Amino acid sequence: MKKLDICIAGGASTYTPGILIGLIKKMKSFPINKLVLYDIDEEKLSLMGQYSKILMKDFAPNVEIIYTSNKEEAFKNIDYVFCQIRTGGLLMREQDELIPLKYGVIGQETCGPGGFSYGMRSIRDMIELVKDIRKYSNEAWILNYTNPAAIVAVALDREFPDDKRILNICDQPISLLMSYARILGNINYKDMTPHYFGLNHFGWFTKIIDNHTGDDLVPKLKQLILEEGFYPANKEERDPSWLVTYSAVVDMLKLDPTYLPSTYLQYYLIPQKTFSHLNKERTRAREVIDGRLKRVYDECKLVIKEGTTKKLKSVQDEFNKVDAHGEMIVEIAESIYLDQKRPYIVMVRNNGIIDNLNKDAMVEVKCLLGANGPIPDIIGEIGTYHKGLIEQQYAYEKLTIEAYYEESYLKALQALTINRTIVDQEVAKKILDDLIVLNKGYWPRLK
Ligand code: NAD
Ligand code: G6P
Ligand code: MN
Repeated sequence: MKKLDICIAGGASTYTPGILIGLIKKMKSFPINKLVLYDIDEEKLSLMGQYSKILMKDFAPNVEIIYTSNKEEAFKNIDYVFCQIRTGGLLMREQDELIPLKYGVIGQETCGPGGFSYGMRSIRDMIELVKDIRKYSNEAWILNYTNPAAIVAVALDREFPDDKRILNICDQPISLLMSYARILGNINYKDMTPHYFGLNHFGWFTKIIDNHTGDDLVPKLKQLILEEGFYPANKEERDPSWLVTYSAVVDMLKLDPTYLPSTYLQYYLIPQKTFSHLNKERTRAREVIDGRLKRVYDECKLVIKEGTTKKLKSVQDEFNKVDAHGEMIVEIAESIYLDQKRPYIVMVRNNGIIDNLNKDAMVEVKCLLGANGPIPDIIGEIGTYHKGLIEQQYAYEKLTIEAYYEESYLKALQALTINRTIVDQEVAKKILDDLIVLNKGYWPRLK
């Protein structure tokens, strides 16, 4: 079996430890020769790099660990790149979330004006990253998680239309499947095959088939969710704001039981209630800065001080948990590498998958992932309501990308106006003008 060379771009991300543990668990079927952490923040990278070396010394001593800000060193002869960068960092995320709130509008990392702000920042860095990777590794699989993944996916599809080895992925569908599995009595989420359609952070589960019986579990799930509530599979470890987010599924399902909605639809379908739940002074970014970011880097420093992870219960505990994100990233790469054609919900160019929707939309559907890339489900025609919602959201995504490429103030304003979280053109303009000031140096200069 060929041993693989892997790179994590955004290697100092808070998600890196979870991915490393996912890699260690899969070392037999997804064997690694070299793991490179690439990041532009040298201070964080040094801590994460030292931590990674110690962790690998303890659990997979044959894996070479390199941490670097040098592109050639990072991307030369690499087989898989996992991309998880955050242009502007968590402090800019906080501003993305705070500014819309001033105008009575949803402030969120990937949805509404916050997602627009972040999207316009991510596009340039992601295009540059893909070009740099391709310079040194033409064949590498680029598995991208960088948010807002919906916007990044459309931008990368426009910039690299013929590149068949870029895949944009979100972990929320798997997190939702894990949650369904727990609600159904702690069954294994891998024993279910989902049917799903939509855009990223804008989709619905239509059927969930029990692999053993062939039954559709959605009717039972709807009943359980309406009777007992909805919560993440790992609710004991989640911050309170995520529990509120999951409970929004109950509110949406009560109003429209057609399909099982993604949690992210709360920002578009019940924005007033969702807005009322948002903390106007302390947004999710601050929770992450004080929570996950601090936890991860405290752990890195502790491991570096000890020189080993063997005596640290906190590290051992991580191996017993299921980290949806880390596990998914590694298993997706494994499914491609071993040509397993396992089902995952990922983003692909529509091209007729949803018959009555623009061909160039990046839709999120279940695909079988193998060595030749995703083989998508064919969805066929969708009904008027879902088609209308998706077309409006896709128009927002497309206008955002056009605003970026054409440096167009008007297209940016149109993008925000058509977004369901805003609607009012005058409010859209006020938010846009604030975001332009915030993003000076990050965004193209809109004319
Ligand atoms: P983070 O800020 O902790 O990590 C991002 C890292 O990227 C930082 O270390 C930063 O220095 C680095 N970085 C920024 N710009 C870079 C560039 N141009 N080149 C290389 N490195 C760069 O953020 P996080 O909370 O750990 O999230 C990381 C990313 O993963 C975000 O984009 C987040 O939205 C995304 N994410 C996506 C999903 C999904 O469902 N698709 C799930 C989880 C996280
Ligand atoms: C889910 C989404 C990701 C998003 C993350 C935010 O996993 O699918 O796209 O990045 O939530 O989580 P956070 O803990 O940073 O708010
Ligand atoms: Mn996501």
